[in-house]
Amino acid sequence: MVKTIFITGGAGFIGSHVIRRFATNYPDYKIINLDTLTYAGNLENIDDIASQPNYKFEKADISDFKAIERLFDLYKPDGVIHLAAESHVDRSITDPFVFVRTNVLGTCNLLYCAKELWRDNPEGKRFYHVSTDEVYGALEFDGTFFTEETKYAPHSPYSASKASSDHFVRAFHDTYGLPVVISNCSNNYGSHHFPEKLIPLAINNIKNNKPIPVYGKGENVRDWLFVEDHAAAIDIIFHRGKNGDTYNIGGNNEWKNIDLIRLLCDIMDRKLGRPQGESQKLITFVADRAGHDLRYAIDSSKLQRELGWAPSLTFEEGLEKTVDWYLANEKWIKNVTSGEYQDYYNKHYGQL
Ligand code: NAD
Ligand code: TYD
Repeated sequence: MVKTIFITGGAGFIGSHVIRRFATNYPDYKIINLDTLTYAGNLENIDDIASQPNYKFEKADISDFKAIERLFDLYKPDGVIHLAAESHVDRSITDPFVFVRTNVLGTCNLLYCAKELWRDNPEGKRFYHVSTDEVYGALEFDGTFFTEETKYAPHSPYSASKASSDHFVRAFHDTYGLPVVISNCSNNYGSHHFPEKLIPLAINNIKNNKPIPVYGKGENVRDWLFVEDHAAAIDIIFHRGKNGDTYNIGGNNEWKNIDLIRLLCDIMDRKLGRPQGESQKLITFVADRAGHDLRYAIDSSKLQRELGWAPSLTFEEGLEKTVDWYLANEKWIKNVTSGEYQDYYNKHYGQL
């Protein structure tokens, strides 16, 4: 039987890797990419699979109930993998409302349409909500990890909106019996990552000899995972995860921001033929982010034990691949950093 799957946010960073994986590995599925193409959405991210017969793009805003209802009526999907979101913490500090609209209301619209469509026949259906470890708040430097049982304690408008959407997903499961699954993943990195986030921003600035803005003292810790390993985890959880369950996904790969930036500088010096230590001169400490979470670290043992997932690359291998991709794709960076992004960058980093 042909399975029709909505993948929302498929023109974004992680969504494009999920689309590529599903369209390539499951030729019998019909993959519908539902994306409104905000500043972060770029169809160039998936132009390599755009002409595949099992793939189709639908431009739609998930916060527009009527538009979403029409698409559920038209395609009658068997599954939804929901990634569409406003995803940048700094933007959520400037404008929290669009985060509520897309991340909370948009998720609720999708849940409602799925509930209505699958009400009489939920067998074999699945609503997969892709979420973040940021819903758990922040850890101290005490060797503890976020588990699936960690209490929610979001601090930023971004993480509050994701936490809220997670609660709605569980509420639809508990109230209406909607077949759902949730995953909470740590920071991703890899190709097609919009250069407002730390790793692609640093690569781009190092390449262009521009200051690398490090918030505060650069002491904050993030747990980095290669984006294709996240896409692989989503594939496994979508097909084999237990209804109503949550799975944490992480790289077991904690880095202080400043150490990560220094490593990136060294890799870039080698790739660009600069003397070792040259790019580190670009490191510039700037005002800290408001409410900056100190440390994230994920315990992904449930996913590893129950579903057999594990990261496939070391961080060094993943970073090499990532840097190579950015160096080889100058046109992509030029396209996404022109226009609206320039205004954002100048407003945000004007102090440099
Ligand atoms: P992204 O910002 O790169 O992409 C988001 C995509 O959603 C874009 O294509 C955008 O056009 C689309 N979108 C935004 N608002 C929309 C709307 N109203 N209607 C339809 N489409 C809309 O984000 P990302 O980094 O790829 O993250 C994808 C998902 O994974 C998000 O839900 C995010 O919370 C989650 N996540 C991200 C990370 C990370 O490190 N990037 C880690 C864990 C979880
Ligand atoms: P980011 O990539 O925005 O992801 P998140 O906030 O979701 O973790 O930021 C990663 C870390 O890097 C975070 O601790 C904030 C910090 N950071 C900087 O120091 N400078 C920057 O220019 C950016 C964008 C982030």
